[in-house]
Amino acid sequence: MAAQNRLITLNNGVQMPILGFGVFQVPDEHTEQVVTDALAAGYRALDTAASYGNEEAVGRAIAASGIPRAELFVTTKMWIQHTGEDTARREFDQSLRKLGLDYLDLYLIHQPLGDYYSSWRAMQKLHGEGLSRAIGVSNFYPDRLVDLILNNDVTPAVNQIETHPFFQRHTDQRVMAEHGVQIESWGPFAEGKNDLFTNPVLAGIGAAHGKSVGQVVLRWLTQRDVIVIPKSVRPERMAENLDIFDFDLTDDEMGAIAALDGGESLFFDHRDPEKVTWLGGRRVD
Ligand SMILES: NC(=O)c1ccc[n+]([C@@H]2O[C@H](COP(=O)([O-])OP(=O)(O)OC[C@H]3O[C@@H](n4cnc5c(N)ncnc54)[C@H](OP(=O)(O)O)[C@@H]3O)[C@@H](O)[C@H]2O)c1
Repeated sequence: MAAQNRLITLNNGVQMPILGFGVFQVPDEHTEQVVTDALAAGYRALDTAASYGNEEAVGRAIAASGIPRAELFVTTKMWIQHTGEDTARREFDQSLRKLGLDYLDLYLIHQPLGDYYSSWRAMQKLHGEGLSRAIGVSNFYPDRLVDLILNNDVTPAVNQIETHPFFQRHTDQRVMAEHGVQIESWGPFAEGKNDLFTNPVLAGIGAAHGKSVGQVVLRWLTQRDVIVIPKSVRPERMAENLDIFDFDLTDDEMGAIAALDGGESLFFDHRDPEKVTWLGGRRVD
């Protein structure tokens, strides 16, 4: 099944699977088994973050799998508290150590908050030294993204942002494409908010193809060339979420899903001062 996964070529030539596996909110004590199951199901791209508190468990599963390192694509992210030039470097080293790896495939600035310009300078160096094959950002709205690009040497390869049927990000994707930045979806299922898994439009399209709502959503995103990293702790759903490359949505079906866009986050707005204060106050080990 993994063989059917499509590769996306990033702006520096590095190739990344369009479908990977995310481990946000997987408790540390379950993560090793969950990632072991995901690798057995056929996932080869893994998405974690320092703030998820499970990098070591992800690393143990990678080591135990015996899968050659070159066949994996591992992403982690730097938390706000560790932005800054020296701290970013130390934080990168710590993530690498926790993951048990000697290089990363993609290192992301987790939030557009804190001293992320200094972090980006450190990340450009890491990238230049070959310690991270690609570097990018997450949760950047177009204004912040374009400003970062205009004031630095390396353009982020990826911007990982909330993207799902109720917040579709077409304008963000267009701006990113203009600058050579690849869009990656987080929360492709909106974590089930808005009754996504029983949405009648999505369920109707699924019935027409003999596919589940989850598969329709992942197919819709990948047909838009959006990278996806769905999370599930259940092996049967891991397999279901991988099985999306044997059907195509029609233009009418893509149009019907486009009509579900509410144009707003279902989680939080990174430009809301209260949220910025809350995120900035979160501490990770
Ligand atoms: N950069 C950021 O700020 C940021 C923020 C959030 C997430 N992320 C990344 O994006 C990844 C995905 O987002 P997410 O984990 O927030 O949410 P998500 O993938 O949209 O949704 C996960 C939820 O959907 C359920 N689910 C999964 N597959 C299903 C299926 N086929 N049918 C029915 N239910 C299904 C899961 O339950 P079960 O586990 O019980 O199956 C879980 O409750 C994360 O794991 C993380 O790597 C990044």
